Amino acid sequence: MELNGISDLEFATIRDFIFQKAGISLTPSKKALVCSRLFKRVQANKLDSYGAYFELIKSGVHPAEQQMAINLLTTNETYFFREPKHFDMLTEIAEKADRGRTFRVWSAACSTGEEVYTIAMTLADMTRLGRAPKWEVRGSDISTRVLDAARLGHYSFDRTEDIPQEFLKRYCLCGTGPYEGTLLMDSSLRDKAEFAQINLIEPLPQLVPFDVIFLRNVLIYFDPPVKRKVVTQLLANLTPEGVLFVGMAETLNGLIEGLVTVGPGAYRLERRK
Ligand SMILES: C[S@@+](CC[C@H](N)C(=O)[O-])C[C@H]1O[C@@H](n2cnc3c(N)ncnc32)[C@H](O)[C@@H]1O
Repeated sequence: MELNGISDLEFATIRDFIFQKAGISLTPSKKALVCSRLFKRVQANKLDSYGAYFELIKSGVHPAEQQMAINLLTTNETYFFREPKHFDMLTEIAEKADRGRTFRVWSAACSTGEEVYTIAMTLADMTRLGRAPKWEVRGSDISTRVLDAARLGHYSFDRTEDIPQEFLKRYCLCGTGPYEGTLLMDSSLRDKAEFAQINLIEPLPQLVPFDVIFLRNVLIYFDPPVKRKVVTQLLANLTPEGVLFVGMAETLNGLIEGLVTVGPGAYRLERRK
């Protein structure tokens, strides 16, 4: 079926939908992207226009279709050891952490799990060498599609080239037969990593404070008020000495008072005098 593009009015419907549901700001330059990502869903629902599809998801009659649209409209690019300086900093923080309690890390927009397993490999290796306390790692995202992939922890080789050789040997299983060309994260890490759907623009569930929160490469999709709301909520879930990482190209300067920079894309709450 041929589908025409979308009018400004139709675009406004989908723009308002994704803003309300996920806090994501879509500029008109994203019209073509929206069309290409949702094309198959318009067809699957046997609709003859994008406008009709937008009305369908807006109506909320089909929550599963709404979630599918959110899955398709989020951008999930990620890779192992992305912005590696943050994992050097994580090592330093974990090394100094109190050995008497569990060191807790949260990847708050974890996409398909590469960030979570990078954290897990880093901390597991420190534990092996007696350099870190007991630890836990959690991952969350708004997209159910990426969370399913993250829980599997199964990646094609071409996605794993940034994993150092010794970590590949220690923490990854090489696929054979029908799994040739793929890699499975070791069960010791898959069992330890916990994943849950959390929408960062909604009130957060009750959480035990984290020593480190990764909030990397997601704030770029939000406007300043949404950014402020999201960061404020996460800061409330950090331990007093906790560190928040954002993407290296992102900044929290001028957004929230009382934050101090502790490294590139790394922040901590100022200590009260
Ligand atoms: C570009 S990925 C970043 C992945 C990883 N943190 C990294 O830096 O490689 C951004 C992720 O943010 C998620 N996201 C977008 N809006 C969200 C929201 N409101 N709540 C939770 N996650 C959201 C997307 O689904 C996507 O997986």
